[in-house]
Order: sequence, then C-alpha cells, then structure tokens
Amino acid sequence: MKKISGNPFLKKENGQIFIDLVPFKNLIKKYKTPILIFLENRIRDNIKSFRNVFNTEFKRFKCFYSLKANFLPEICKIIYSEGIGVELIGLPELKLALKIGFPPSRIIIGGPYLSKELIEASIKSKVREIIIYDLNDLKKINSIAQKFDQVQNISIRINSQKFKSKLGIVLNEHKIKQLKESCILYQNIKLTSILSHYSTQMNDLNQYKRNIATISNNLKVLLSHNINVENINFGGGFPEATVMPQDQLKKIAKSIRILLDESEINYRNVYFEPGRYFIGDSGLFIAKIVKVGEKRWIFLNIGNHICPKFAKCSLRFYNASLIDKPHKYKTSIAGIVPTDQDVLAKNYFFTEQLKQGNKIMITNTGAYCLTFSNRFPYSLPKILLIKGNDVNEIFDPEINQDFSIN
Ligand SMILES: Cc1ncc(COP(=O)(O)O)c(C=O)c1O
Repeated sequence: MKKISGNPFLKKENGQIFIDLVPFKNLIKKYKTPILIFLENRIRDNIKSFRNVFNTEFKRFKCFYSLKANFLPEICKIIYSEGIGVELIGLPELKLALKIGFPPSRIIIGGPYLSKELIEASIKSKVREIIIYDLNDLKKINSIAQKFDQVQNISIRINSQKFKSKLGIVLNEHKIKQLKESCILYQNIKLTSILSHYSTQMNDLNQYKRNIATISNNLKVLLSHNINVENINFGGGFPEATVMPQDQLKKIAKSIRILLDESEINYRNVYFEPGRYFIGDSGLFIAKIVKVGEKRWIFLNIGNHICPKFAKCSLRFYNASLIDKPHKYKTSIAGIVPTDQDVLAKNYFFTEQLKQGNKIMITNTGAYCLTFSNRFPYSLPKILLIKGNDVNEIFDPEINQDFSIN
C-alpha cells in the first residue's frame, strides 16, 4: 500500500483509502461530512520518535506537550498515558490537566498574563514551574507562594530576539538589576529555568541555532551576575512529523547538542515543549465539494472557521473520491465562509476532474485548527478518534455542543 501525505497511517491501494485500518468508504457511508479524524497510533508514534531522538542526544531531557496545540480531553489522555508532561498557558488548561491526572511535577505553566487565580491555583497544586514573561510578575508570585508557605520554581521567558517579537524579557542592565534584586528580596521563589521559544514550523537549522544562541548568551549574562539557572527550555516550533521526518529531526537534535557543548554552558535538564510535532499530522478533515466554480475554483463544506490560516498547518488536499488519479492540475480551493477571504489554497495541484460531491481529504490539521477556530454559525464537525480498526466518536456537536474548555 502507498502512503498518503507521507503518513504511515493513511494509505491507498486500488483506489481504496485506509485511515489506519479503517476503509475510507465505511466512514463516509456512516458519517456525514465534514468530519475531523485523529489517529491515535500516529500521536503515539510521534511522541516515541521525538523522545527517542532527544534521549539519544541528551542524558537529562524532558518534554512538555504544549496543550494549546490541541486540548481535546481524549487527545490529552493519550499524551498523559505516554508519560509526557504538559506546558499550559491558562486556568482552563490547568483544570483539565489535573483532572486527567497529570502529576503537578509534569506541569509547567505560564504566559504573557498570569492572573491571581492562575498563580494561586498553580502554587496550590504545586506545579513544577511557573514561566514568567515579565519580571513584575515575580512580586505577585512571591506573595502568593508566601501565603501558601511554599517556594515556587520559576522559569523566565527570554525574548527570542526574533524580528519584532514582543514576547519575553530582554535582559538589559536594568532588567538584570531588577532580577537580581528580586531573587534576593523574594524568598518564596527560586529561579530554575530559562526559556526561549523562537518560532513555529521551524524547518531550517539556522532558526534552532539562533534560539540556542539566545539561550546561551543570556545564560552567560546571568552567570556573570552570579545568577544561576539549572535548566534550559527551547520551547516548541517543530513542524508536523511528516514534514520533518525522523532523520531530519535527528540532525537537528544532534546539532543542538553539539552547539550546546561548544557554547560551554552548564545546565542540568534540557526541556522542549512540542505541540505541532506530536499532534499535527494525526489530524485530518474529510469534507466534500459543494460547488465547482469557474477557472477551476472548488468550494468545500468547511472553511477557515474550523480550518483557519492562523493555525499555520502544512495543509495537503486530496480528492479522496479519485485518489488514484494524478493530482497535477492547478485548482483553487475556497471555504464555506461567505467572504472572498475564505481561501484554503490557491493553484493547488489536484485532480483534472472536479465534481460536486467528491470527497476531499485535508491532512495535517491536528494542531491549532480547533484552538484557533471561531464561532461562525455553522455546525461543528463530528470528531472521531481512530486506532487500528476502532472508531471512537469523541465529539458530537448534537450531544457535546462545544469543545471549548473553561
Ligand atoms: C512557549 C511556547 N512553547 C511551545 C509552543 C508550541 O509550539 P509548537 O506547537 O510550534 O511546537 C509555543 C507555541 O506558540 C510556545 O509559545
């Protein structure tokens, strides 16, 4: 059988498509499009390969799934069962992670805005680290930690210095002074880690190099002021696993390790916070052509409200009804949202024949699509979790209404 979209869990043979072991034709007989499907075995494989690659290079490596990439409870349970930690940005995610059973030692939490409630809940549940994007948050965290008679581990997010980045702290003389004074004054916080997340969909080794340079330069500045930090956290930013095959990931991991060795900085643990790499290529939409327009424009029954550009997925489109036909004719694909802006792809290589009712498969939609989806008033799709021959309905809009967390 031949792989589709480079995904070992999407295959075709004699015009038939198999989603893991489930024949595509059985699915479309049973379910109305659009549907969103997740492949449990792909998530597990992605986690294993990421872990293997980085465990080979680093003795003390830890991984925290960036839950915002996909916070469906059934997906989080898979991540949990693989023994991975989580990186969270807010209270709804913290409640969910604790409910699923993530031990607080596997939870790191932080973001550009830390509400009092979030800090309190984090400290109370004894999370591993709180990540700050602003040094002024140290005072707030210290006073809450003091109230609970605890010492809270802190990670500081450094501005990655990527062009125009507004997130994180630029450690200039003034900020160093403030940090040093805070570390002395605030007895209920302990600076343990430094984080720099560079970008998303990082395919180029140079992007990883720049991030390493940011971390090592900042660590050296901290050390020169007698501020010790144990752990370094490179954030996420890896593309979908089908876009970055294991060999390439190995090269990146090796280069990161070599560059760190060369920079001669001391650290205890290396952390990563992948989101997209674990989940991106585990998701796919099945939609259909609702109209064939002029100049090879086709209109689908999904659009940017549920498959948004903001998610920055490496979308791939297949005419599942004509899967064995060559996909080499330029076609433009519009979504269902009634605005000219709802364009899913322009001049995409697709089948010559375009027919209303053809089923379309859109791959690499597992990360950030639901997160960045909006409330445009169309019905939400059913969501299925497939593992081998098993098909599990994990979301039905008629029963569950919404997949938001609160
Ligand atoms: C601090 C941090 N860590 C991890 C991630 C996850 O990134 P990705 O899904 O690209 O791996 C993000 C994404 O924005 C982030 O800001």
